[in-house]
Amino acid sequence: MTGATGGIGEAVARRLAADGFRVCAAGRRVDRLERLAGEVGGVAVPFDVTDENDVARARASVEAAGLDVLVNAAGVFDLASVVQTGGEVLRRNLDVNLVGAFNVTRAFLPGMVAAGSGLLINVGSVAGWRAFPENSAYSASKFGLRGFHEVLLEELRGTGVTACLLEPGAVDTPIWDPLDPDAAPHLPNRERMLCPEDVARAAGFVAGLPDGVAVPLLRIERA
Ligand SMILES: NC(=O)c1ccc[n+]([C@@H]2O[C@H](COP(=O)([O-])OP(=O)(O)OC[C@H]3O[C@@H](n4cnc5c(N)ncnc54)[C@H](OP(=O)(O)O)[C@@H]3O)[C@@H](O)[C@H]2O)c1
Repeated sequence: MTGATGGIGEAVARRLAADGFRVCAAGRRVDRLERLAGEVGGVAVPFDVTDENDVARARASVEAAGLDVLVNAAGVFDLASVVQTGGEVLRRNLDVNLVGAFNVTRAFLPGMVAAGSGLLINVGSVAGWRAFPENSAYSASKFGLRGFHEVLLEELRGTGVTACLLEPGAVDTPIWDPLDPDAAPHLPNRERMLCPEDVARAAGFVAGLPDGVAVPLLRIERA
């Protein structure tokens, strides 16, 4: 699973490990990955989701073990108005959030389809179906991810592999740190956000469904 060094990914990794899965934890920060892998009895597989060669190397080391659940949770989040969003920021959001998920899925999905079983979890966002000011680059990536996911659902019919798009609202993770949301009146306060464990519980629910049962989309929000 990607994003395992981040707030949501780490919580999902811990939940899936507690549910009996052996976790292959992916991200770029090797020290954090190794610590997590050691704590949950998994394995650290560092790679950059935007680098196809890196992803291919990771696949070679993971695929031998087979893959029951693939989680695309790597992501970045930048806020700026449309006119203040430079090309570099737009490309960064698209590269990690959309192209990264594409790269990882293309690398690992064929093995799952060949095995005739497995689950792909894509971590989308409320910003993948709703518009918020200053979200153009991020939203473009998450709307794109939803389109990618919906095409995958069609292509996976009859293969035995299922896919779920998790679409959480705001979650209290380090992704918000550079924005200091509690000091910004137009952003949600951290105490009103979901916890990473809320998203992890949803991922655990989907991963625990019996064969033949699919949840293609799951939105998670604060009541
Ligand atoms: N927090 C929220 O409010 C919220 C709400 C809805 C959806 N989401 C989505 O949930 C996912 C996880 O977000 P989070 O809140 O847990 O963020 P986070 O704590 O900042 O974690 C981001 C993760 O993405 C990884 N990552 C970033 N760029 C990467 C790259 N080029 N290659 C590989 N890994 C990369 C980071 O790993 P390294 O730095 O180690 O590479 C880290 O593990 C994202 O897709 C985000 O869009 C978040």
